[in-house]
Amino acid sequence: MPQIVLLPHATLCPDGAVIDAPAGKTLCDALLDSDVDIEHACEKSCACTTCHVVIREGYESLNEPTEKEEDLLDKAWGLEATSRLSCQVVLGDDDMVVEIPKYTINHASEHH
Ligand code: FES
Repeated sequence: MPQIVLLPHATLCPDGAVIDAPAGKTLCDALLDSDVDIEHACEKSCACTTCHVVIREGYESLNEPTEKEEDLLDKAWGLEATSRLSCQVVLGDDDMVVEIPKYTINHASEHH
């Protein structure tokens, strides 16, 4: 079972967190199950960028991003080379270090 080290985020997890989550689960679900209330404005359908995370360690162990995910990531705030949309990340067997960017661009927030 991979262990996810979450770096501190001012509002979502001020002290950071360490999460155990089963391989095969999406990173977004693993965070939500651990009470890290990451935004997921499109309900995890790869249509927004609010679930954007930066994978600080373990990026290579993950499934490849689809073209659609890459197109969306281009619009994400704070894009980095190891950025992913957490609802599209399927956990592998390797441990990871994950950072949630400070801001999101929430085009769908008026629907919530
Ligand atoms: S929740 Fe919208 S892309 Fe992940």
